[in-house]
Amino acid sequence: MNLNSLQLVNYRNFEDLQLDFSEKINCFIGNNGVGKTNILDAIYNLSFTKSWLNPLDTQNIRYNQDFFLIKGKYRFEQDEIEISCGLKRGKKKSFKRNGKEYKKLSEHIGLIPLVSISPYDSNLILGGSDERRKFIDSVISQFDKEYLLALLKYNRILTQRNRLLKQFAEQRIFDKDSLDVWNMQLIEYGIVIYDKRKKFLNDLSPIFQKYYNFISEEKEPVQLSYRSQLIENFEDLLEQNIEKDRVLQYTGVGIHKDELIFKLKEHTLKKNASQGQQKTYLIALKLAQFDYIKQISSIKPILLFDDIFDKLDRLRVEQIIKLVADKHFGQIFITDTNQERLDKILNKIKINYKLFKINDEISETGKSFTE
Ligand SMILES: Nc1ncnc2c1ncn2[C@@H]1O[C@H](COP(=O)(O)OP(=O)(O)OP(=O)(O)O)[C@@H](O)[C@H]1O
Ligand SMILES: [Mg+2]
Repeated sequence: MNLNSLQLVNYRNFEDLQLDFSEKINCFIGNNGVGKTNILDAIYNLSFTKSWLNPLDTQNIRYNQDFFLIKGKYRFEQDEIEISCGLKRGKKKSFKRNGKEYKKLSEHIGLIPLVSISPYDSNLILGGSDERRKFIDSVISQFDKEYLLALLKYNRILTQRNRLLKQFAEQRIFDKDSLDVWNMQLIEYGIVIYDKRKKFLNDLSPIFQKYYNFISEEKEPVQLSYRSQLIENFEDLLEQNIEKDRVLQYTGVGIHKDELIFKLKEHTLKKNASQGQQKTYLIALKLAQFDYIKQISSIKPILLFDDIFDKLDRLRVEQIIKLVADKHFGQIFITDTNQERLDKILNKIKINYKLFKINDEISETGKSFTE
């Protein structure tokens, strides 16, 4: 599957843009603020039905205009599929596949798998544990509806249980039976989520290691692991924690406390690794996500690399490009401010690519090889 062409009308800074892509590597080069990330954002939007930069759809309409349109033509083996996303101020967003409006946006998710890497992903390392759980949840739930459902139910029950704990405290009462009703359901869904998260990390971790080692040329050992209180029996945990829960009026044990542990040379990544090492870690993690999705969906996800080369040395950038140039990966969109760096690397590798220089005008260069 690949994106053949993209049209943007009044999307962020673009009044009218039409681009035809290489099925392999596409680079957008230009100074700060010319709209490189905006193009990736539009591609992201066609996969996930929402912007990656701005959750408020109306703010993606070009200033002083009253609508935007994104249109992408994708090739799926023999078929061409057109996806469009349009928004008029004051109207509901319209999202169509081959001209036919989706009834529910969720029906579209998963059709065009995509993995993005951007500077914002550093939150995954620097942010709180909820960021890392969000990462796990978003990857698994895209393709596993049972997981998504269990997660929604778990969160609902957790809210109810916490509300009950608060009520107990306010009214100075305690009714164990009514708490047990929530416990049973919390355990049921918590275990489903725990098992799936554990399997996901077991699958992901060796692939992640492989990619990290390749990019860093085995300079430093890294670890990725899953930590959950549910390694012990969940029912026992809830029992043991009951007094604490009553005092704090909050459920202190469960999968909502799970963590992803990132380490480099046995030390936490956040505090000990350099910026380039942290970046390498994120890229390896996202490439492992790519493999995971590819295996489940049998489609090579589109890769978006937004400004990922800053802080990486020349060797690592070269290793990344070498890696994704391989047939294992599909179509890739890269933004960079430094044309020289990309030119040098791309010219070394025999690979199809297009390079779009974005200024007031857009010019295009590239190379094409037939196999
Ligand atoms: N709704 C909008 N209408 C018009 N222009 C917009 C809108 N939203 C954002 N922009 C413009 O888009 C530009 C930012 O685009 P973008 O983030 O894609 O830049 P970039 O090329 O990725 O830059 P950098 O190299 O700094 O990452 C800004 O100049 C901003 O004013
Ligand atoms: Mg940008």
